[in-house]
Amino acid sequence: MKVGIASDHAGFELKEKLKAAIAELGYMLVDFGTNSEASVDYPDYAHALAKSVDNQDVNLGIALCGTGNGMAMALNKHQHIRAGLAWEVEVASLIRRHNNANVCVLPARFVSEEEAKNIVKAYLTTNFEGGRHQSRIDKIPVSC
Ligand code: RB5
Repeated sequence: MKVGIASDHAGFELKEKLKAAIAELGYMLVDFGTNSEASVDYPDYAHALAKSVDNQDVNLGIALCGTGNGMAMALNKHQHIRAGLAWEVEVASLIRRHNNANVCVLPARFVSEEEAKNIVKAYLTTNFEGGRHQSRIDKIPVSC
């Protein structure tokens, strides 16, 4: 199982801390940057991660920015990306169980390191429930 991870400058420090925790859980990791706290534009990193999930180079993604919202907005512009914002463990589990989120987005400025590690663990170790949730996901794409 390969996990892609990306952040802007606001999420950089937490991204670095999460990388070790994700590796400890036994996942292979691909880091799409950013690589410092220098100011960058979150869409550049969101799009790189989204493309990698989309073409199945990685199975799942983790994204971080200050509030999580910019990353989520950019990621969800990609047709096959379902990026869910997770600020606590139960939400992290639900974005997998109910929404089959293929990217988990964390608000780096609003979660502690410990919370973030628990959120990522819950997200990566939970499975999609399918059934009625699949029918709902099927209605998400807009064709008009
Ligand atoms: C960067 O200051 C901040 O705007 C960004 O990380 C994010 O929160 C945007 O949604």
